[in-house]
Parts: sequence; structure tokens; C-alpha cells
Amino acid sequence: MRGARAARLASCTAMLFLVAVAPQAVAQDKARQARAAASAAAKAQATSAAYAQRFAAQCAACHGANGRSDMALTPVLAGQPSLYVITQLFLFREARRSSEAMNAVAKNLTDDDLRGFSDYIGTLPPVPPPPPAAPPDPVRMGKGRALAEQHRCVACHGAALDGGQQVPRIAGQREDYLKMALRGFQAGTRAGYTQAMTSAVSHIPVEDLDILAYYVARFPVVPAAPAAK
Ligand code: HEC
Ligand code: HEC
Repeated sequence: MRGARAARLASCTAMLFLVAVAPQAVAQDKARQARAAASAAAKAQATSAAYAQRFAAQCAACHGANGRSDMALTPVLAGQPSLYVITQLFLFREARRSSEAMNAVAKNLTDDDLRGFSDYIGTLPPVPPPPPAAPPDPVRMGKGRALAEQHRCVACHGAALDGGQQVPRIAGQREDYLKMALRGFQAGTRAGYTQAMTSAVSHIPVEDLDILAYYVARFPVVPAAPAAK
């Protein structure tokens, strides 16, 4: 009897204690969380500003200040999903994807650098190509569209060919670079992060690869919603 009463009393006291102390503890906790969030946000902002500067100094000469390269065989980076970019920087650093220029650039990048550059590139909005000298040839465009459906390019790269996650945007990419990339996957000279591309293009005749490059390079660039990246 006395034991039960003591227990009841004890639990009442505990509840009173909680009622009295909990709101204060919750308020302190909230303040601590808000401070932590603000300092994390400030740190993230400083990091992204640092990589924006490093991009301008170390990458823009070849890839363009806004990520739209106008250098031969040098890919447009604007509009690429950050997850795709980090996988490629990793492959360059480990020399599994070979490119004289990029292996030299990536060799000394730390893991934080891979993350910092790819996060920054992921914020660059897609930039359409400069207006073409001649309007696209409708016959080649029609053939390209049919090939992209037949070979299921759209299944992975999306109906807008804008990629997402580890799949690259290809719409509006430079034609010379696309040709080189597609031929490289087929020949086995470009290693992918996975086998996806090697098997996607292994049975396509080379002249059809070139039509695909023609079509994809002229595919309209639609600004993607950042949330979808
Ligand atoms: C000297 C010119 C040059 C510089 C400087 C350079 N790049 Fe590159 N980059 C290239 C070339 C050329 C390729 C294409 C490589 C290939 O496939 O042959 C490339 C490819 C890439 C790719 C792969 C894109 C894709 O669509 O697969 C990424 C990502 C990239 N570079 C990021 C960077 C970053 C980040 C920097 C700065 C730290 C940088 N590059 C500096 C020339 C350069
Ligand atoms: C099964 C999914 C899949 C299919 C189908 C597919 N792709 Fe890809 N593609 C990828 C992935 C994933 C990558 C990234 C390469 C890697 O693994 O490193 C890629 C990369 C590429 C690249 C290189 C882009 C760059 O910036 O370097 C091009 C060009 C490309 N694909 C075009 C095509 C075309 C054209 C087709 C249709 C013939 C196609 N893809 C079909 C998944 C796919």
C-alpha cells in the first residue's frame, strides 16, 4: 500500500518537474538548433563562394565563365546535375576516364574539392547554344529523333534530354564533344561510371551515332527546375 502510494507520488513529482522544466529545455534546444543551422548555412555559403572563385580561376578558361564552353571538344558544364559531375571528376582523378587536360586538373583535387566543384557546377543554369548559322536540317533532325527513341536514349536521359542525378544533360551539348563521347563509349576508350552507355551504343552504326550527336546538340535547351536535379 505504502509502496504504491510512494510510487504514485514519485511519478507525480516527476511529471511536475517535467511540466516545469520542459518548456525551458525545449526553448534552449531550439535556440541551439537555430544557431547550428545558421552557422552551417554561413559555412555552406562561404564554401560555395570559394568554389565559384576557384571555378572562375581554374576552369572557366576552358569551360566558359557561365559553364558554356566555346572551345573545341570541351564540354558544356552548365545545367549538369552535381551527382553526374562528381562521378566524372572522380573518374578523371583516378585516371579511369582519360583526358590529358582533365587528368592534370583533377589529379590534385581532394574529396572536398570534388564535392565543392560539383555542387557549384550543379547551380549553373543551363545555357542554350548560340544561334546556329543555318537552321537544323529537318531530315537529320527527324532521323535523330527516331534513333533516340529506338535506342531508348530518352529512357535514361529524359524526354527533355536534360538528365538528372548521375545521368548527364545532353540537350544542347557541343556536337563535336557529343560525337567524340559516343564514339569513345562504343570503342571502349571512354570508361563510364557504369556500363550503361557502353551497352546502349554498342550496336549502333557509327553514322547513326553522328546523326544522334547532330540531333542532341540542336535539341532545345529547356531550363530545368533546380528541384528536379
Ligand atoms: C585546359 C582546359 C581545361 C581546364 C582548365 C578544365 N577542363 Fe574540364 N574538361 C576539359 C576537356 C577537354 C574535357 C573533355 C575530356 C574528354 O572527354 O576528352 C573536360 C571535361 C570535364 C568534365 C566532364 C564533363 C562531362 O560532360 O562529362 C568535367 C565535370 C570538368 N571537365 C570539370 C572541370 C573543372 C571542375 C575544372 C576546374 C577545376 C576543369 N574542368 C578545368 C578541359 C578543361
Ligand atoms: C541505361 C541508361 C542509358 C541509356 C539507354 C543511354 N544513356 Fe547516355 N548516359 C547514361 C549514363 C549513366 C551516362 C554517364 C556515363 C557514365 O557512366 O560515366 C551517360 C552518358 C552519356 C553521354 C556523355 C555525356 C557527357 O557529358 O559526357 C552521352 C553523349 C550520352 N550518354 C548519349 C546517349 C545517347 C545518344 C543515347 C541513346 C543512343 C544514350 N545516351 C542512352 C545513361 C544512359
